[in-house]
Amino acid sequence: MNLIFLGPPGAGKGTQAKRLAKEFDLKHISTGDILRDAVKSQTPLGMKAKEYMDRGELVPDELIIALIEEVMPEGGGVILDGFPRTIKQAEALDELFDKKSLKIDRVILFDAPDEDIVQRLSGRRTCPSCGAVFHVKFNPPKEDEICDRCGTKLIQREDDKEEVVRKRLEVYRKQTAPLIEYYEKRSILVKLNASKGIEEVYGELLSLLR
Ligand code: AP5
Repeated sequence: MNLIFLGPPGAGKGTQAKRLAKEFDLKHISTGDILRDAVKSQTPLGMKAKEYMDRGELVPDELIIALIEEVMPEGGGVILDGFPRTIKQAEALDELFDKKSLKIDRVILFDAPDEDIVQRLSGRRTCPSCGAVFHVKFNPPKEDEICDRCGTKLIQREDDKEEVVRKRLEVYRKQTAPLIEYYEKRSILVKLNASKGIEEVYGELLSLLR
């Protein structure tokens, strides 16, 4: 099974992808996580990507497409979280899948209003060490500001500051939302009401995939 998780920043794509990947033994490919790791390790990709990410803009297509080609497993079995984000990326993915004789089974559109997004992103805390994601109110760690999994102090992502969140929403509407029509035309897009609680959203996701 090959899935694309599409939707605005903070809609809960990463939260649901991590769980679904574990339950169904899929590879979770989050371009955002890969880029953040590259920034942290100061690789050439990370150094090029950082300025775009800090401003809430998209990293250039060529860099992202090369990255996806590198991490895509031969036999598929993936959840693509945060990719594609432009029509050019979607076309490159089609080409790559054709070459590998793979197909996209479903595109899940995470649908959530702006107020929920701003609230979710302003309360998000992430673990800089193992990548676990929490929310101060909706998914708090057992011990305040400490990762449940590895005990590291949690941080707030640079791009979760309010002005950057607004910019990311604008970028989503302009550059990524056209993908909705792109996949609707192929009848592989399904809409998920992502404004409910984490458990409810997961239940709905499972029923959409059945
Ligand atoms: P990326 O990391 O992909 O950011 P994003 O798409 O903006 O997604 P987020 O990680 O912010 O949100 P999410 O939907 O995964 O939500 P989450 O589950 O964490 O990209 C970052 C940057 O990298 C981009 O701006 C760009 O610069 C670059 N980039 C990445 N991919 C690229 C590409 N393909 N092309 C070009 N550039 C690219 O949830 C958010 C919070 O809400 C959490 O705290 C969580 O606990 C909580 N939460 C989740 N679900 C619920 C719920 N149902 N109810 C209540 N709270 C919830």
